[in-house]
Amino acid sequence: MSTSELPTRRAAITSLGLYVPDRVVTNADLEKRVNTSDQWIRTRTGICERRYVEPGTPTSELATRAARECLERRGIGASELDLIVVATVTPDMLFPATACIIQDKIKATRAWGFDISAACSGFVYALTTGAQFIQAGTHRKVLVIGADVMTSILDWTDRTTCVLFGDGAGAVLLEPSPDDTGLLAFAHEVDGSGGCYLNMLGGGSLHPTTHETVDQKLHFIRQDGQHVFKYAVRKFADSSAALLESNGISFEDLDLLVPHQANVRIIDAARDRLGLPDEKVVKNISRYGNTTAATIPLALGTALDEGRLQRGHLVLMAAVGAGFTVGTALVRWTGFPWK
Ligand SMILES: CC(C)(COP(=O)(O)OP(=O)(O)OC[C@H]1O[C@@H](n2cnc3c(N)ncnc32)[C@H](O)[C@@H]1OP(=O)(O)O)[C@@H](O)C(=O)NCCC(=O)NCCS
Repeated sequence: MSTSELPTRRAAITSLGLYVPDRVVTNADLEKRVNTSDQWIRTRTGICERRYVEPGTPTSELATRAARECLERRGIGASELDLIVVATVTPDMLFPATACIIQDKIKATRAWGFDISAACSGFVYALTTGAQFIQAGTHRKVLVIGADVMTSILDWTDRTTCVLFGDGAGAVLLEPSPDDTGLLAFAHEVDGSGGCYLNMLGGGSLHPTTHETVDQKLHFIRQDGQHVFKYAVRKFADSSAALLESNGISFEDLDLLVPHQANVRIIDAARDRLGLPDEKVVKNISRYGNTTAATIPLALGTALDEGRLQRGHLVLMAAVGAGFTVGTALVRWTGFPWK
């Protein structure tokens, strides 16, 4: 585990842009496609609907829309960006990196960039990675994107998995903080022994794509849902508590928990373990499902829309994902001129 306190030149989140596809897919729609029911999905996951792209729409397309909104709201051009960090498990292709594709699409002519593969923890990993360049003083404008087209890797014969996911993207801009707001601390963990419980095996050097790997459905996401569920509940709670404790902050001081949205039962179980009141926890999984790297920026957007996220608020982002990966980030919210 690595924990870091960032006393100087904090990275502030100075803008946010979001994009979800227009196409709303309800549980009733899924009933027509899979042997499932609205009642099962609602009660077991908390999901009512999710957004799907039109088939063939790449992750970079969603990310580009989120990036443009983020920059427009801040009132800057893409040419002012120094770096683009993209978290995704559904890159447009194995290479070039989706960050390069986005850099070209938005014409971020001065920026370099790279992708991060940390699944559902991807956004927190990308956020804390991007923040290092601000903290070091070498970069002034870093665009951090979480984006996934999960429908591109869903197995429609696996009803335990296909009902959970949706497509979406979110982008935040990091800049040197003008004051004491910004990223205060973070912690990350990896437990690679958990890789067998949630993965997509095909298409890499271990199982290069062949007719056989396609017949075996290795190009789809697969998971042991119950194992992931138990690990996630424990890690959400333990890692959140550990980060606050190591920074001398109590849960009473916390204004908002922004958790990765995988299953409302995971979020509620973690909330109960931490003893947090429901009004301090952001939930929007009912509308979007699990959008993997996009859930946390989408949840930040929901909190802003609901008036629950204001300048000076102490915000904890927490995520658990394939790997297993774990990420927590504690932020003193800087606020946006437009919100
Ligand atoms: C996948 C998940 C929703 C399943 O919920 P669960 O309560 O563990 O359900 P189970 O797997 O025990 O299945 C219970 C029953 O529901 C059935 N079922 C599974 N999916 C179903 C669906 N979509 N519709 C209807 N029934 C379904 C199962 O077949 C099983 O039936 P059985 O008892 O006759 O065998 C849950 O385990 C989960 O959310 N895990 C975490 C997954 C995750 O978040 N992954 C992303 C990583 S961040």
